[in-house]
Amino acid sequence: MKRVIARAPSNIAVIKYMGKLDSSLNLPSNPSLSLTLDRLCTVTEAAWSGPGEFSLRWQGASSLGEWQDLRPMEIEGGLALKKMQRHIARVASALRPGLVDLGAWEIRSGNRFPAGAGIASSASGFAALTLAVARAMDALPEGERGGALLSSLSRQGSGSSCRSFEGPWVAWEGERAFRVASPSLKLADLVLVVEDRPKTVGSSEAHARVLESERWPGRLERVAARYADLRRLLESDRLAIEWSRFSELCLEEAMDMHGLFHSSKPPFNYMTETTREVLAWLESEPSLPVAITLDAGPNIHLLVPNEEAGAVRRAVEQRFDWLSILQDLQGPGALAGARA
Ligand code: PMV
Repeated sequence: MKRVIARAPSNIAVIKYMGKLDSSLNLPSNPSLSLTLDRLCTVTEAAWSGPGEFSLRWQGASSLGEWQDLRPMEIEGGLALKKMQRHIARVASALRPGLVDLGAWEIRSGNRFPAGAGIASSASGFAALTLAVARAMDALPEGERGGALLSSLSRQGSGSSCRSFEGPWVAWEGERAFRVASPSLKLADLVLVVEDRPKTVGSSEAHARVLESERWPGRLERVAARYADLRRLLESDRLAIEWSRFSELCLEEAMDMHGLFHSSKPPFNYMTETTREVLAWLESEPSLPVAITLDAGPNIHLLVPNEEAGAVRRAVEQRFDWLSILQDLQGPGALAGARA
């Protein structure tokens, strides 16, 4: 069996993918925009037997090749295993059209997020799996169109994973995720880990429930305006000059998404007391150079100019000395490593 290892980073959205136009293909209701991370990633090993009867053996892994101290990826029971199996079949059939017997697969996977970090791994997990399958079959497609094909296949497994193939700034519109011109100011992401319990409402359910929110009408207009503003700001290299506008747009967008959660029918909420306490403190410290965003969870991401990351981290630690903080940098995406 041929064994290969692939790695893919997570990404953090500043314009959120929330709500689907088509849930079988994971086509989004609105465009989104994200920063690709670097060390917060998934590492996946795939071994393929070659054509033959289709089967999958899956295991979590705590080390793979040069990658040590991984957190064995957890998947929840039969449903998630089925999802993984469907994804392998989707990628294998697309990359080798006409191949009927998809063969025996062995997959091992681990995350470089420390245990209990409260970081969702579906973006990095599906991107790494897509790449690992392509490499195991010796079918890594070349060029820009090849990258677009992998990203689009990955999207069908997990929507947000389509933005992890390139970096640092990636836009996703409809069927296509693509790199946008990136500003010279480089960012770090400080993840303030407020809670590490599994979410009560998974992202698939959130995508469906927000459509019932009384705030859904108007959401597409609000998000389109912010998306256009942020793209202009990034692509004209005005991130440093317009930092406070950037920061304002990031927070507005995160609160808009959480507002949809809070007003869904029935409503749901990811924010904890601690989330609110930390947000209130950040608001009382306007001189900190941070842009705040939250995913569908209680943890707070602070996007910070690289050179300010140490000082911001110390300020947070001084106020909340019990909070665990993960620190990462913007990165070039999974394809950069896969083709190296
Ligand atoms: O890829 P999914 O279906 O897990 O969606 C997650 C969407 C958010 O993380 C909440 C926002 C985003 O754009 O990443």
